[in-house]
Order: sequence, then C-alpha cells, then structure tokens
Amino acid sequence: MKALILSGGKGTRLYPLTYTRAKQLIPVANKPVLFRVIEAIREAGVTDIGIVIGTNTGEEIKDAVGNGLRWGANIEYILQESPDGLAHAVKISQDFLGDDRFVMFLGDNVIQGGISGLISDFASSDWNSQIVLTAVENPSAYGVAKLRDDNSIEKLIEKPKDPPSNLALVGIYMFDETIWDAVHAIQPSARGELEITDAIQWLIEAGHRVYPHVHTGWWIDTGKPTDMLEANSLVLDELVPTISPDADIKNSEVDSRVTIERGAKVINSIIRGPAIIGEDTVIENSYVGPFSSIYHHVTIQNCEIERSIILERSMITDIDVRLQDTIIGRYASIRRNWKKPRALKMNLGDYSNLWLD
Ligand code: DAU
Repeated sequence: MKALILSGGKGTRLYPLTYTRAKQLIPVANKPVLFRVIEAIREAGVTDIGIVIGTNTGEEIKDAVGNGLRWGANIEYILQESPDGLAHAVKISQDFLGDDRFVMFLGDNVIQGGISGLISDFASSDWNSQIVLTAVENPSAYGVAKLRDDNSIEKLIEKPKDPPSNLALVGIYMFDETIWDAVHAIQPSARGELEITDAIQWLIEAGHRVYPHVHTGWWIDTGKPTDMLEANSLVLDELVPTISPDADIKNSEVDSRVTIERGAKVINSIIRGPAIIGEDTVIENSYVGPFSSIYHHVTIQNCEIERSIILERSMITDIDVRLQDTIIGRYASIRRNWKKPRALKMNLGDYSNLWLD
C-alpha cells in the first residue's frame, strides 16, 4: 500500500494567508495540516508517500517536509505543472504508484480518528476503490454521492447546484490499479479540471466495486478561514495538554487544558483552555481564551484574545478590545499608537479583512 497526498492547487479561498504560503502548511493547533495528514498515514502503517506539489508552493513544501525521515517514511515529490484537477494529479503520479493499491488524501483535510481502520478494511477487501462520505449542511460545496437503498453508490456529482443528498465526499480515497483506465478515459469538467468524482463514476459504470464508507466523526476541509478556526477548535479540544518543563510561568492562571511549548513565557496572564502557546512565545499581562493557538515566537502584551490563530513571529500589544475569531499571519504587528490625533492606521495585504465594532 502506498499513499498520495495532494498539495498543489492555489488556495485562493484562504487569501491573504496563501499569497505567501502553501495552504497545507498553515498550522492547526500549532501543527501544519499537511503534517497531520502525514501522521495519519504513518499511523495507518503506510511508509511510501508521494506528495503532489505545484510550481508556486512546491519548494516551500519540500523545505518544510523533507524526505520523511522524521516520520519514518520515504517521501517523494511529484510536480504538477498546473492545478488541472484531482484526477490529473493522480494521472501524473502513475510512475510513483505503479500497480500498488493506494490511499489518496487531500493535503488540506483534517479528519477525526485517523484512517487506520479505513486502510485495513480496504487492504483486506476485494474492492477496487473505497470512498469516504460524510453528512454536511452545504453539499453544493463538495463532491456529492447518491446511494441506493442497499448502500451502493448510484451517482457521484462534483459541486452540484441541486444536490441529490447531503453526503459529501471527504478528501480521502482508496484505489487499486483500475483507477488508471478511469483517469485516462475521463474528459475535463465544465471548470476545466479532471475531476476525481468523474473518475470514480467511471469505475462504477465500468462495473468495478466502489465501496462507500460513511464517516460519523468530524471532518474539516480547511479551505476557508472559518474552516481553519473550526478545525483549530476541534483539534485543540482533543489535544492531550502538556506543559514543557522549560516554560516559564509566573504569577499566572493556566488551566488544565492548556499546552505550553518549550521556552514559552506566561507572565501576569490568564490562559483558559483548550489552548496552545508555542515555543519561545511571550504572553504578558494578557488573557488568552479557549480555542486559541498562538504559534512560536509570538509576543502578546496587554491584550485579550479568544478562539483565534496567531502565526509565528507576530506581535500584538496594548489592544483594549478583545480579538476573537481572528487569524493573524506571520510577522504581523498590531499595536496601539499613543500619539494624538488618535486614528486607525492600517497596512493590510491584498484581500485582507478587518472588522471594526
Ligand atoms: O475537500 C473535499 C472535496 O475536495 C471533495 O468533496 C470534492 O469532491 C473534491 O473535488 C475536492 O474539492 P475542492 O474544491 O475542495 O478541492 P481543492 O481545489 O481545494 O483541492 C483539494 C486539495 O488538492 C488541495 O490540497 C489542493 C490539491 N490540488 C488541487 C487541485 C485542483 C492539487 O494538488 N492539484 C490540483 O490540480
């Protein structure tokens, strides 16, 4: 069994963060989503992993992930010259995958409970493919499956205007070598992409055995900022808290569901979990509330923050309104200017959002 992770694409829905960074590297509970995907694959016992990368963010992904040694995996990279669709990404990975059975995992997805059970079911079955479905409120945003009464798949449609069910395709798929005929047979969709949904529909129509597994835990496609915050909350909720012995906590209230990483300083502050404070970050005279992930080398002084993600090396000081449901990128600076006249001064990147009360 091999694994293929898709980490190309553009990430436009996460602008401005993804102007300068691969969306799969944005951390959830202080760990990049892509690392969580690699860990889920390794936990399932798969060591040969191919990562599809795009031309814009490929080098950054290679630098961050490396050769996989730290996860006990062999990682190879497959360059996709342009984001021509999920089935296109599979097609260009044929040399790497050969005739092995494989699991394909979208590099921006986070799923509760891992994939060990799914992989062992598929490895010991005679199915040609297994797909993972879950009930969602907005099926039009995803690939959607219509099942028959006996639970077999009748039809798969990519982002239908009029969805035939509420069962979305989760970004985890398993295939055997029959997928090669499918990805070579299908044509680009109306949006110009080779759709994996069309390839699976082709397998079904060709009489191959495609088994649907309905996932009942949570699952997040971290495509949009609200999804990132939701994924962050769900992962923090399940994190086993630890306080590093190297952390410096003085005159502060840190509750039992808080993780504090190496070298972090918490001074005259209140931290309510679930929350995580990253390496060498300083929190001073501040309140950090539930569902917050403060990444490494951040400084927060005289502020209140709740249900937010603050990325590395940012600085937030002397803000007298609570920051909430907020995502701040790297090296950002937010501070009060005490000089008169008082005014809001901003230096925001393209596609930034600022909500004022
Ligand atoms: O998240 C689940 C959904 O993922 C499914 O329900 C849909 O059926 C499936 O088409 C896909 O839809 P998205 O519109 O969310 O796909 P997105 O463009 O966000 O790409 C998903 C991942 O695959 C992302 O990590 C980028 C990568 N990718 C995407 C394309 C189009 C590639 O590596 N190459 C590509 O050509």
